[in-house]
Amino acid sequence: MRLLVTGGTGFIGSHACADLLARGHEVTIVDNLANSRADVVERIAAVAGRRPRFIMGDVRDRDAMLAVLRGQGIEGVLHFAALKAVAESWEKPLAYYDNNVGGSLALLHAMQEASVDLLVFSSSATVYGDPEHCPVDETAPRRGTNPYARTKLMTEDIIADIASQRRTFRAATLRYFNPAGAHPSGLLGEEPSGVPNNLMPYVAQVAAGERSEVQVFGGDYPTPDGTGVRDYIHVVDLARAHSEALEYLVREQRCLTVNLGTGRGYSVLDVITAFERACGRTIPRKLVPRRSGDVAACYADASRAFELLGWRARLGIERMCEDAWRWQSRRAARD
Ligand code: NAD
Ligand code: WQD
Repeated sequence: MRLLVTGGTGFIGSHACADLLARGHEVTIVDNLANSRADVVERIAAVAGRRPRFIMGDVRDRDAMLAVLRGQGIEGVLHFAALKAVAESWEKPLAYYDNNVGGSLALLHAMQEASVDLLVFSSSATVYGDPEHCPVDETAPRRGTNPYARTKLMTEDIIADIASQRRTFRAATLRYFNPAGAHPSGLLGEEPSGVPNNLMPYVAQVAAGERSEVQVFGGDYPTPDGTGVRDYIHVVDLARAHSEALEYLVREQRCLTVNLGTGRGYSVLDVITAFERACGRTIPRKLVPRRSGDVAACYADASRAFELLGWRARLGIERMCEDAWRWQSRRAARD
């Protein structure tokens, strides 16, 4: 298929592009490079053995999106482009609504105008807020507990409304849990700018000596070791799920909302220990107070993804840490 991937030079989008290209699809990336680098395109090509087309552009530019959809004869869209930092979304709510909701609206308008009816959308487990129980399945109540989460909730609802109005429109809403790891080649991975917000890239930078210690946010949660529990999912497993969701839309001609996680929860201390094993170094850590807005535990019931897509995670926490460490080491050497 001829596919448009918005945000395709970002962390998850770049892995999805590599997977889609390897399956024989034609890929056009639109990214404004707000949080990624143009040289990722070469690295995707090196991993996949085929080049994606790259167009520097902004999803909020409806005319530009329409020109891409028509000009490239696009048949389906994978929409990753978004801002994603929870704390920043409190500081800049307008930027988040503009980019994430406004960007999705512009893209959806252009898709309607160009009669492109297939969409795979990057949603997030953040839509569950503080889940009443874990594992959390797709029927759990959704709660937008911060501006970023609300942008995902709103976009999910906009997509559902379009699907109920336009008979030909098919969307897969994919709720990622905690993406982690990197491509095993060491060529693709996460490039946090400044201080990483997420645990795994922070731990990787401490292991590399770029930061002095991991701050463990809270040791008094009602979890086995008192630290926060999450469902870390290897980005390569996540990428594969996008290709499979796309195939589902084409095959079944039905919409889909699924959790993408492993179904297993790991604590902050579990992650640090697994990373120590992967890198062979001791990782200094310090217990500090809870981070505002964090929940004790969140992990997926991922059974629907298996039932509908035949997808399940194959790579565990050890591989996530090994691949994140390889990426961290190569990145330090490259930069
Ligand atoms: P990322 O920042 O690495 O990638 C996003 C890409 O989108 C970047 O390359 C950025 O330059 C681009 N972009 C942002 N705004 C744009 C715009 N207006 N026009 C064009 N390009 C734009 O983030 P990621 O981790 O790869 O996340 C991808 C998607 O998955 C996002 O929608 C994010 O909200 C969602 N998600 C991420 C996580 C996570 O923890 N990484 C978890 C759940 C959901
Ligand atoms: C994981 C655990 C922290 C950093 C966020 C977003 C969510 C989704 C994924 C996009 C928690 C602890 C972290 C650190 C720590 N993104 N931690 N020290 O908060 O589960 O989810 O990213 O959709 O919306 O909220 O991920 O990696 O930040 O934290 O102790 O330096 O690690 O308290 O328990 P989180 P995270």
